[in-house]
Amino acid sequence: MVLTDAFDWLTCRADQTIHAVVTDPPYALVEYSPEQLEKRRNGNGGVWRIPPAFDGCRRSPLPRFTVLSEAHKGCMREFFARLAQELERVLTPGGHVFIATNPLVSYLVYEPFIAAGFEPRGEVVRLVQTLRGGDRPKNAEDEFRTVTVMPRSCWEPWGLFRKPCEGRVMDNLRKWGTGGLRRVSEDKPFKDVIRSGVARGKEREIAPHPSLKPQQFMRQIVSASLPLGQGVILDPFMGSGATIAAASACGLKSIGLEVNREYYEMAVRAVPQLVRLECS
Ligand SMILES: C[S@@+](CC[C@H](N)C(=O)[O-])C[C@H]1O[C@@H](n2cnc3c(N)ncnc32)[C@H](O)[C@@H]1O
Repeated sequence: MVLTDAFDWLTCRADQTIHAVVTDPPYALVEYSPEQLEKRRNGNGGVWRIPPAFDGCRRSPLPRFTVLSEAHKGCMREFFARLAQELERVLTPGGHVFIATNPLVSYLVYEPFIAAGFEPRGEVVRLVQTLRGGDRPKNAEDEFRTVTVMPRSCWEPWGLFRKPCEGRVMDNLRKWGTGGLRRVSEDKPFKDVIRSGVARGKEREIAPHPSLKPQQFMRQIVSASLPLGQGVILDPFMGSGATIAAASACGLKSIGLEVNREYYEMAVRAVPQLVRLECS
């Protein structure tokens, strides 16, 4: 785990030395800025929306992507274009990228990855109740009781990309150990729909990051990302280290980068404890 800006680190990394990327990047690009994190702490708006109480449970704030301006969207495209170019260089041929996104902004990620030379390999659907959408029109809830402004989101897309192989998949697997995805077992292929709860309880106590991903889901993704179980997985935006813990729990090598000192230190404390958690 390294306390660094991902782009500074990537610029210095040698070509073709990473075998897979599994990451949950910042989205609004502003949501992890000091001002927005302060607004989140104070519970007063900004890009962090406080969701309504649901089934009597208080939920954590969610980043609100409907407030993004055209200028922000342009910045996101540039951010992901730069990321895709760097990842394309450091990945081995046949290396896969799993990148968490959401249905409102996924197109701003996918286009730059394809433009950088990656092959689109579909999406992994994480079935999860996110509490995004599903509300009646604001301040006119009683007038429009039968209306929902946006669908209540029940899934999270993870973009799946591959750097083109050198020759056939079998040639690439022999030379680089990459090009395919690891099966769940000999008779079960990796599937692109995965049922997943939100991270809660013990995991949240160990790693109270606003975007913590659950180990049960992350272990399935990291395991799929290295078809022969060999090589190095990179998470350039590791937050509290969910990818790194999942890789370690699966006996895989990984590198995690984080720019925020508080989250980096959280990851250093959390990863050994997350690794020890049992997941069904
Ligand atoms: C969505 S969160 C990832 C959370 C992670 N999935 C977890 O389970 O803890 C994105 C993380 O990227 C970090 N980040 C933002 N810009 C970065 C950069 N340029 N380099 C490295 N980390 C960055 C943020 O501080 C934040 O912790």
